[in-house]
Amino acid sequence: MKKVSFAEFGGPDVLHLVDAEEPHAGPGRIRVAVRAAGVNPVDWRIREGQVLKAHPIELPSGVGLDAAGVVDEVGEGVDGVEVGDHVFGEGSSTYAEFAVLSAWARMPEGLTFEEAAGYPSVVETALRLVREVGVRSGQTLLVSGASGGVGSAVLQIARDRGITVIGTAGAANQDYLRGLGALATTYGEGWVTRVRELGRVDAALDLAGSGVIRELVELTGDPRKVVSIADLTAPELGVRFSGAAGSVPEALAEAVDLISRGRLHIPVEKAYTLAEAAVAHIDSQAGHTRGRRVIVV
Ligand SMILES: NC(=O)c1ccc[n+]([C@@H]2O[C@H](COP(=O)([O-])OP(=O)(O)OC[C@H]3O[C@@H](n4cnc5c(N)ncnc54)[C@H](OP(=O)(O)O)[C@@H]3O)[C@@H](O)[C@H]2O)c1
Repeated sequence: MKKVSFAEFGGPDVLHLVDAEEPHAGPGRIRVAVRAAGVNPVDWRIREGQVLKAHPIELPSGVGLDAAGVVDEVGEGVDGVEVGDHVFGEGSSTYAEFAVLSAWARMPEGLTFEEAAGYPSVVETALRLVREVGVRSGQTLLVSGASGGVGSAVLQIARDRGITVIGTAGAANQDYLRGLGALATTYGEGWVTRVRELGRVDAALDLAGSGVIRELVELTGDPRKVVSIADLTAPELGVRFSGAAGSVPEALAEAVDLISRGRLHIPVEKAYTLAEAAVAHIDSQAGHTRGRRVIVV
């Protein structure tokens, strides 16, 4: 089969489309014929060798955690899923024709493979953040960097729970944030004042890692009401850095529920072929993805 692989850590040019042995579903796992793989920032962070503690790998390594596809092998001890089912979920080396998944759910009606591949990691992260920051119905959550994959999911989960969101994003994404039910303003010079004009902030999330932890603490008045997924210096100001993934099966079940009720939609910014994986990484690393980028197999 064809798979995207890298033999050394480095820039996008270390990625190559290679012929590889097909993987097989061991106990508790399934194998899918991949139709689409989600492109997450963690994919290029792993490729650069940045996050080896959280994601230990051996070289050469495949790329990609998220996928949507058709089940074609069911491992020992797995119930409730059959060959031919359309599923989305998380596994390893998903930028490939076949991949093994460790967590999955049946795709909701009406979702394309391309769309489905964009959900698993971002929904797990968004649910974890809303839980960890402890925001409740009737309160206001500030989201710095609200138009990306995780931000798009946070905004819609918060809306579903009766939480008001103020989101910051670039000028081109203001209407996008409003379309997801948020109050919107731009980041950059004067943003704290613009946020204050939109309302009181009970809790805040830093999704962009753009050096705003001090301001988020100022706006909420309490470092315990701020969580970051992108700024490793956050704990220096008493702010939690959230890095350990929660339960992916639970997140997928919640995603299916939200999608089926028409309460969650992550748009696909752009689809790439397997051979274009390096371009997908370059585009993701530029830091202005709306929703999710995906690789279509
Ligand atoms: N720790 C964890 O568990 C965990 C989990 C998932 C993701 N992450 C990290 O969290 C970050 C976000 O992930 P993602 O998947 O949502 O990324 P993404 O889809 O690439 O989105 C990035 C977003 O950041 C916004 N942005 C860029 N510069 C900004 C600035 N100066 N201020 C505010 N927003 C800015 C962009 O908005 P505009 O296009 O509107 O400019 C873009 O929508 C990544 O660094 C990722 O590695 C961590």
